[in-house]
Amino acid sequence: MTRRKLVAGNWKMNGLVKDRDFPKALSDALGEEPRCDVLLCPPVTLLPLIAADKPDWLLLGGQDCAPQASGAHTGDVSAAMLADVGCMHVIVGHSERRADHGETNQLVKAKAIAALDAGLRPIVCVGETLDERESGEAEAVVVSQFLASLPECAADKIVIAYEPVWAIGTGRTATPEDAQAMHDAIRAAWPGDDAAALRIVYGGSMNPGNAESLLQQSDIDGGLVGGASLKPQDFARIIQSVR
Ligand code: 13P
Repeated sequence: MTRRKLVAGNWKMNGLVKDRDFPKALSDALGEEPRCDVLLCPPVTLLPLIAADKPDWLLLGGQDCAPQASGAHTGDVSAAMLADVGCMHVIVGHSERRADHGETNQLVKAKAIAALDAGLRPIVCVGETLDERESGEAEAVVVSQFLASLPECAADKIVIAYEPVWAIGTGRTATPEDAQAMHDAIRAAWPGDDAAALRIVYGGSMNPGNAESLLQQSDIDGGLVGGASLKPQDFARIIQSVR
């Protein structure tokens, strides 16, 4: 089965109203329609502005959602609210949220279920720390995080992002071989019989210089790009690395 690649930009806590024209700059940098799915996850404040003026091929996503559907949860954003402004995806369980907000696998799973209930595809993030990699536990840690964070659903309703914590924002990237091995282990651990349909994307210092060798790996189905997704030229070059 050939899985269509997905290149996603996670802007994290960056982006102001003046950045609303990013899709135009990205389109100009690309010059033609991308050969893969392209997703942008700007801060929630920019979602309706960007949704109002973007090319059809550019998908929008949230960076987080509440586990509840609605109600008295000050400051939280529901999956239905994201769908309402045009999102089709939402990132859940990013390591920055796991670290900054103490999010557990159980909470991440609840958020992924809330996303599915609202008709969104959750992008469930997993990844090991440097200590865990250096002590040889990376695969066991990531697979157990993956299984504990996973909602019950068909493989084509979800995306997994493998983001080694030590590679995020550090300029240090997993080698294509190490990333491929981890993606293969995640796919092998998928509990259903439709693992071939599961998209597993890599994140962690992906840039125009390393994207192609990562994206060529058979089980790397795309990228979740942080810093480089803020620059239209760099993001375009990563998207163009998909052959
Ligand atoms: P960087 O690409 O900045 O390392 O961030 C990766 C990431 O965390 C995407 O979710």
